[in-house]
Amino acid sequence: MKIAVPKERRPHERRVAASPATVGKLVALGCKVVVETGAGRAASIPDRAFAEAGAAIAAGAAEALSDADIVLKVQRPLIAGEDEPDEVALMKEGAILVGILSALQHPDHVAAYAEAGLTSFSLELLPRITRAQPMDVLSSQSNIAGYKAAVDAAAELGRAFPMMMTAAGTIPPARVLVLGAGVAGLQAIATARRLGAIVTGYDVRAAAREQVESLGARFLDVGADADAETAGGYAKEMDADYRRRQEAALAEALPAQDVVICTALIPGRPAPLLITDDMVRGMKQGAVIVDLAVEQGGNSEPSRPGRTVTRHGVRVLGPANMPSRLAEDASAMYARNLLAFLTPFFGEQGFAIDWEDEIAAACLITREGAAVHPMLVEEAVA
Ligand code: NAI
Repeated sequence: MKIAVPKERRPHERRVAASPATVGKLVALGCKVVVETGAGRAASIPDRAFAEAGAAIAAGAAEALSDADIVLKVQRPLIAGEDEPDEVALMKEGAILVGILSALQHPDHVAAYAEAGLTSFSLELLPRITRAQPMDVLSSQSNIAGYKAAVDAAAELGRAFPMMMTAAGTIPPARVLVLGAGVAGLQAIATARRLGAIVTGYDVRAAAREQVESLGARFLDVGADADAETAGGYAKEMDADYRRRQEAALAEALPAQDVVICTALIPGRPAPLLITDDMVRGMKQGAVIVDLAVEQGGNSEPSRPGRTVTRHGVRVLGPANMPSRLAEDASAMYARNLLAFLTPFFGEQGFAIDWEDEIAAACLITREGAAVHPMLVEEAVA
């Protein structure tokens, strides 16, 4: 098996889909690994480190991709009509493409994979089941994003997070509110707590209360008895009555906060709008909002993707591709996720995909020239 790791070419992307550690493991499984020169540079992994782990270094995308049986990517590859090179055109028919392909958001790309005869797996569609945890790219990357959101907020805030009792007086601890207590939110809570802030967490899923409290944070009660958790563990959109109560509770809580970290998402839907412009007006001067949901529309009205704006004296950060800002760790974790996804397919008979496997089936997008994922096929029929 030849496994290719091309350089990522999309804007703001610094991660790479392999680490020296995973290259070593893939080589030990009997694979030939080819890494495109410079693929790890933005993540501080030089070609030399990949070569020492057993990879061959290719001079460019064409050399890396030609003849590759498996192509490991972070983001979806370039297709015709985007920047050069057309990475999909460089892949051979029958190659297996694995990455965070965002397939449901990019049907044009899915069509290109199908037309090129690729077998493609879009890992953001992995089921959130226990067996899939080591491969869970959403969790590994959200974890990094949540940590970095708290650290960025601390850097932006003109006040300290911890309480300080000094000869020059006492500084009270900062107050941090984290909206959405999934993977990113819980890591943001834990990080803000470690930095010494007084933290409040909030989520529409009832199960989140215990998780927030177990981290030493307070749970914001909106005074409504509703559990928004779906069978898949995600949130759903709330009805108008709940949203009114939520708005009132947030409007009351926000003026006391120094920092608000927004992580609330609903799969396949725009992010819920939780902080209106009017609520920002009621916040403290110099307060900081970090909106991790900005790429899905944002939880806060003034957020703009990839920008920091000041609104009513509040700094509002809308980071683009947050995991990529911690590229070294994000790449190492992502590479381990990919290794965990591929390893079960290596058996005594060599490499073989188990098409019946629940995990593989959940994220299989194209096979034998056609889009096969039920959500894509249904959309096409509708
Ligand atoms: P996500 O990134 O889709 O959403 C982030 C959070 O926003 C969620 O906790 C969600 O409930 C919350 N949210 C949505 N609308 C909201 C609103 N209007 N107000 C406040 N909060 C709102 O979720 P993530 O982080 O991917 O986690 C999804 C679920 O999957 C969680 O239940 C998590 O515990 C679970 N999970 C399970 C794993 C497993 O293997 N068993 C692994 C990782 C996550």
